[in-house]
Amino acid sequence: MLKHDTIEKNIGLMIVLIVLVVSVGGLLEIVPLFFHKSTTEPVAGLKPYDAPSLIGRDIYIREGCYGCHSQMIRPFRAETERYGHYSVAGESVYDHPFQWGSKRTGPDLARVGGRYSDHWHRVHLLQPRDVVPESNMPAYYWLDRPAKNDDIEAKMRALRSVGVPYTDEDIAGAREATAGMTELDCLVAYLQGLGTALK
Ligand code: HEC
Repeated sequence: MLKHDTIEKNIGLMIVLIVLVVSVGGLLEIVPLFFHKSTTEPVAGLKPYDAPSLIGRDIYIREGCYGCHSQMIRPFRAETERYGHYSVAGESVYDHPFQWGSKRTGPDLARVGGRYSDHWHRVHLLQPRDVVPESNMPAYYWLDRPAKNDDIEAKMRALRSVGVPYTDEDIAGAREATAGMTELDCLVAYLQGLGTALK
């Protein structure tokens, strides 16, 4: 029988045993989540991002919007009164990678879809201070340029391989669906869809 004394005096052994205990505890908490319906199944009505929103989402990531905006409404009254229903895991099963974030220099965007008009977003993204004078959000004035869509089919196929249910028609029509769109158009399409699946 291993005496506690022996463990306390042997740092190598202690490290091994600590790692063992933490991994067992961790696995017991984490592994069931991979099989739980509430964390792996999409909420009713959730659709994969259409082609413009998918390009918009990549622009959101490229521009680092997540550095100031979370997309995760916590289940507290102060949050739900400001932003709406708290976020549930089933809303982001098609997000690879998810954009939950934690840094909030600006407001949470998990349910910003439909809150403002497309026009408001366009003005705001190009120059936030035109609509919110005290804003310290950067002006993304370069977004009014053609969006790159020559890799959209490859992106959709990659997402399909990790479980996003795009159909062959979705992929075949993606380039046409985004033809002539600007980066601004795509980003606004993405923002307008955020959080709208959960009624
Ligand atoms: C330096 C931090 C910062 C960055 C980076 C940033 N924002 Fe903001 N954002 C803010 C702040 C602060 C506000 C609140 C004032 C305002 O409305 O402009 C805001 C507000 C917003 C709003 C309005 C939200 C609401 O509910 O009123 C949207 C939409 C938005 N940002 C989108 C974006 C997008 C898209 C990007 C990336 C292209 C981005 N932001 C990057 C700080 C930031």
